[in-house]
Amino acid sequence: MTLTPPDLSVFETLESEVRSYCRSWPTVFDRAQGSRMYDEDGHPYLDFFTGAGSLNYGHNNQVLKRALLDNLERDGVTHGLDMSTTAKRTFLETFQHLILRPRDLPYKVMFPGPTGTNAVEAALKLARKAKGRQTVVSFTNAFHGMSLGSLAVTGNALKRAGAGIPLAHGTPMPFDNYLGGRVPDFLWFERLLQDQGSGLDHPAAVIVETVQGEGGINVARPQWLRGLADLCHRNDMLLIVDDIQMGCGRTGPFFSFEEAGITPDIVTVSKSISGYGLPMSLVLFTSELDLWEPGEHNGTFRGNNPAFVTATAALDTYWADGPAMEKQTRAKGDQVEQALAALLREHPDDIVEFRGRGLVWGIEFTDARRAACVARRSFDLGLLAETSGARDEVVKLLPPLTISPDDLDEGLRILARAVRDTA
Ligand SMILES: Cc1ncc(COP(=O)(O)O)c(C=O)c1O
Repeated sequence: MTLTPPDLSVFETLESEVRSYCRSWPTVFDRAQGSRMYDEDGHPYLDFFTGAGSLNYGHNNQVLKRALLDNLERDGVTHGLDMSTTAKRTFLETFQHLILRPRDLPYKVMFPGPTGTNAVEAALKLARKAKGRQTVVSFTNAFHGMSLGSLAVTGNALKRAGAGIPLAHGTPMPFDNYLGGRVPDFLWFERLLQDQGSGLDHPAAVIVETVQGEGGINVARPQWLRGLADLCHRNDMLLIVDDIQMGCGRTGPFFSFEEAGITPDIVTVSKSISGYGLPMSLVLFTSELDLWEPGEHNGTFRGNNPAFVTATAALDTYWADGPAMEKQTRAKGDQVEQALAALLREHPDDIVEFRGRGLVWGIEFTDARRAACVARRSFDLGLLAETSGARDEVVKLLPPLTISPDDLDEGLRILARAVRDTA
């Protein structure tokens, strides 16, 4: 699509080789609004990646932007460590009123460092402290972040190897459907817990994503999640739901575990909680688990006040109206599902299956290399979509929840053309 080659020289010479997403999308982005990003030449790209799920309400959302600009103009506190501020008070009150109370969720709110992985680190520390045990069970193909504690409960071999030291005290178990439904749920896990000879140190906690985003859009069934909650309860293990990518309405309801009717002991939230792409994270847990000493998990950027302002505006705008947001997301999800069903009918040999919930979908290709070709061709045609899965075999779709049905349709048509063009 780009006519003049973009000037990427400073990125290629000065920026570290660790850069990654820019390799999939070799242009220089300049502006973004709603469901579209624009490069320096003004070429528009429909964004079905949304900052890895951190822009559920679209780019530069007008309502959130107004709240942010108003706060900057009145010299509202920008940096405040974890001091009490007006913006934090308003966020906490709004979160309590619109999210926790209507769902009967008995959580206290912790602000860890602003990244998802820091929320996971805090959750793991707290679980280990509460139970006085070290082992945490995670699942095959899980992704929980890139710092050492989070990597120890992450599946991906390349990312784990980056740690450079042994990753200890994490034990992987099969995620839902990992064994193709041939084995009853939790047979292996339960057996290891019961058998004094199994070698499994009794875990402090289990950490799970209800839909594995980086792991290839693997969707856990509600009954599997209920079975897991029950297993944790019966065996005195805390259940941590990592809702960093799938929370904030991505799967429909505000929290992705609502559909299963479970109440995790600890929940991590990040990415779209600020709604504007500003870094912000939460760890939620019941009062009995609030065992922290003051400052025991500390950090300079635990009080990102501009993020509290946009987070409050996002909750007021999209979550004050009961189930309206969830209904809209489900309707758009149906639109995606129908388009993907047609794509599968057209390419039965190339596509293994598609899967998803709400507005997160994945298309698994028979040949993993094809997924990268489809993502690359989509970029050429003006659509941003990434790959995920252990072999990057899945094209992952994460459009903004606020996308119009017409834009959604346009993106799905580009995707279908990209699949056809790469046959
Ligand atoms: C489920 C989950 N947990 C944790 C993280 C880590 O978040 P961050 O990249 O902000 O550290 C991610 C990031 O993709 C994620 O998807």
